[in-house]
Amino acid sequence: MMKGVILSGGHGTRLRPLTHTGPKQLIPIANKPVLFYAIEDLRDAGITDIGIILGTNMPNKIKDALGDGSRFGVNITYIMQGEPKGLAHAAKTAQEFVDGDSFVMYLGDNILKSGIEEFVKGFDESNFSSRLLLQSVEDPRQFGVAELDDNGKIINLVEKPKEPKSNLALVGIYLFKNNIFDAIDKIKPSWRGELEITDAIQQLIDDNYDVDSFVVEGWWKDTGKPEDVLDANQLILETISTDIKGELEDDVRIKGRVVVDEGTIIRSGSLIKGPVSIGKNCDIKGYVGPYTSIGDNTKIIESEIDSSIVIGDSYIRSDKRITESLIGQNTKITTDKDAYPKGRSFVIGENSEVKL
Ligand code: TTP
Repeated sequence: MMKGVILSGGHGTRLRPLTHTGPKQLIPIANKPVLFYAIEDLRDAGITDIGIILGTNMPNKIKDALGDGSRFGVNITYIMQGEPKGLAHAAKTAQEFVDGDSFVMYLGDNILKSGIEEFVKGFDESNFSSRLLLQSVEDPRQFGVAELDDNGKIINLVEKPKEPKSNLALVGIYLFKNNIFDAIDKIKPSWRGELEITDAIQQLIDDNYDVDSFVVEGWWKDTGKPEDVLDANQLILETISTDIKGELEDDVRIKGRVVVDEGTIIRSGSLIKGPVSIGKNCDIKGYVGPYTSIGDNTKIIESEIDSSIVIGDSYIRSDKRITESLIGQNTKITTDKDAYPKGRSFVIGENSEVKL
């Protein structure tokens, strides 16, 4: 039976300060941790035996969020990688769990619109040692790029090529058989000191194993950077349907597709213009505009916000509209027009970004 291996370690340096309080794979996209989408994709493709690779950045938060997997209808095994020494190193730590089966390796901060059913189909029975998910991208120079022969077999892989041979970039989802582990044993760390999965796959090719490709239609998003997290939020919100469980006071205008979860109250005079997702136990008065997700227990008072993620437990009372913002848990943003001195006052973490 095919297994799933989801990589949930890593540094997450590009998402600081959000990753100072937890792993990036738990950042919510439309009010659901990004990691949950990967688990659901595997489950929907019939893969229920899933190994979760854990790193050093608060791995217990991932265990608390997923438990034994039963709430998703899957069986979860936790595998400790520790220090992130590369994607191939992470894969290698799953060798015992995989135990001779074929497996899907899924980067825990990636989201794919189409799911993986089609991608996985027929791989087990095929003679291919690996199959890579590829997507046509505008500028392949920042990705791993695959060169294919006429039958779609991969003949060459180059990491961040200056002169790409194709526009087909590697998406963070891979299919492997057991011989990937021998290939990993043969490779050396790259210039950045990591065991690279592209090097391991190139090793398979050099050892005359066949590597298949599958070009995915529809979007794919790697949520490694703040702007990518906001993009992913927008793409997922495009797919939601209206579901109002909370309370709407009189004279509330709802436009487009809007989710309002239990215990939330939208105050009189507010305009919520979807697609918008609002979590549980929020108290909202003002304008919530398109492509915004508001996490649980958030209070928004006489403010305007759009194209943003408020992770949760936050308080916002701002006289300026908040836009394209990623706002961490337990955050307070206020304007006090009556107080002196006039000015803006901050308590913000390292690597934060504020645009006034
Ligand atoms: P990356 O985003 O490439 O690496 P990172 O998490 O270290 O991020 P940053 O560059 O911002 O510091 O990793 C892709 C995915 O794989 C992500 O979900 C983390 C995971 N990962 C591991 O589990 N183990 C590893 O050794 C590495 C490098 C990544």
